[in-house]
Amino acid sequence: MTNWEFSLDCARKLDENDELSSYRDQFYIPNFSGEQSIYFTGNSLGLQPKKVQSYIQKELEDWSRFGVEGHEKATNPWISYHEIFTDDIKKLVGAKSNEVVVTHSLTTNLHLLLISFYRPTKKRFKILCEKKAFPSDQYALESQVKLHQLKAEDCIIEIGPRDGEETIRNEDIVQKIEEIGEELALIMIGGVNYYSGQVFDMKKITKAGHNVGAFVGFDLAHGVGNVPMELNKWEVDFAAWCSYKYLNSGPGGVSGIYINEKHVENPNVLRLAGWWGHNKENRFQMPDKFDPIPSAESWQLSNAPILAMAAHKASLDLFTEVGMKKLRNKSILLTQYMEFLIHYINENYNSKLEIITPKNINERGCQLSIIAHGFGKELFEKLSENHIIVDWREPNVIRAAPVPFYNSFEDVFKFGEVLKNILNEH
Ligand SMILES: Cc1ncc(COP(=O)(O)O)c(C=O)c1O
Repeated sequence: MTNWEFSLDCARKLDENDELSSYRDQFYIPNFSGEQSIYFTGNSLGLQPKKVQSYIQKELEDWSRFGVEGHEKATNPWISYHEIFTDDIKKLVGAKSNEVVVTHSLTTNLHLLLISFYRPTKKRFKILCEKKAFPSDQYALESQVKLHQLKAEDCIIEIGPRDGEETIRNEDIVQKIEEIGEELALIMIGGVNYYSGQVFDMKKITKAGHNVGAFVGFDLAHGVGNVPMELNKWEVDFAAWCSYKYLNSGPGGVSGIYINEKHVENPNVLRLAGWWGHNKENRFQMPDKFDPIPSAESWQLSNAPILAMAAHKASLDLFTEVGMKKLRNKSILLTQYMEFLIHYINENYNSKLEIITPKNINERGCQLSIIAHGFGKELFEKLSENHIIVDWREPNVIRAAPVPFYNSFEDVFKFGEVLKNILNEH
């Protein structure tokens, strides 16, 4: 790291030494303004793997050829299509085969999991979540509280950063858990915060939650495919994620869920039922009584959306080929290089960009959240004019996520160069 330079040469050397550099060619890089974009919004919508089209085309062909018979006769029979993902997904999140399933969409899954794991009683009814949780999670939690005829202000407790700080200290979360104690029914936190990019200590939070008898779940929309996880080892109770961010599976793509095996096997854990969660042996005998599959699959309500799943498969095949370890190693370097360039600009061009994402690599994924005091929105717009695709999150953050699959060190350098020029003219 010490011999890094703010130069195209340095960036190109880093690319030459990058064993994953060829994977960039497996993705379509947006080019909608006459010039290829420098794309740093894989934390919002991952880029399209080129293989997606042929994977979807295959399902379209099988549909046209077989009609309903495709459920059994398609190359990847549709009845069991979702099972293809078990091995890939369990590696990504550190789970066992019976603990994961790909199904529905993210907020839908969060609701289904909250139905199972938020069972308030007179004594134990509080939920702990992070301040600045993604709004959909806040709405979901509030509406779940209402479902139980309770009031959000009595039940939902938010934990935020200390005054003058931008990220939440893990020790403050643990302290809050201990403080709420026996009244705490559930902890639900974004494993990686969408705004600051902070990765929480999921193991520590889970242990602290269990010590007071609460269930612990994570929204991993910004975690999956970004940072390695060990959900089973950490004994996390449940988690859900989407596939359209770091998993590059297309807008609105399918979601995944993890449920710890001890709950999966426990028939007393309430789950909303649908026919796709029913015992596969006799599902088509159309029995009246729901007999749940003894795995996370029993949380599936409906038969699988095959076209969206085909896109997911194209992307997961790449993840399985490369593995999270190599992706993470590159990701750490790419993000550190971006951080280095921002510090360099601050030191040499008298700018005051503030990175609010933790400096510690174990507390962040690839995203850097940047505050350009008083100049943020303008800076964001100028970056866009220069074909740098980052995003703006109210009230004052620019999020930039160099993604190891398709971003290069040269991309990061070009971002630095444009940033420097904008700040120079400011
Ligand atoms: C952290 C987080 N949670 C939930 C959502 C909502 O996801 P969906 O619209 O797929 O339900 C998002 C979407 O970006 C998100 O970033």
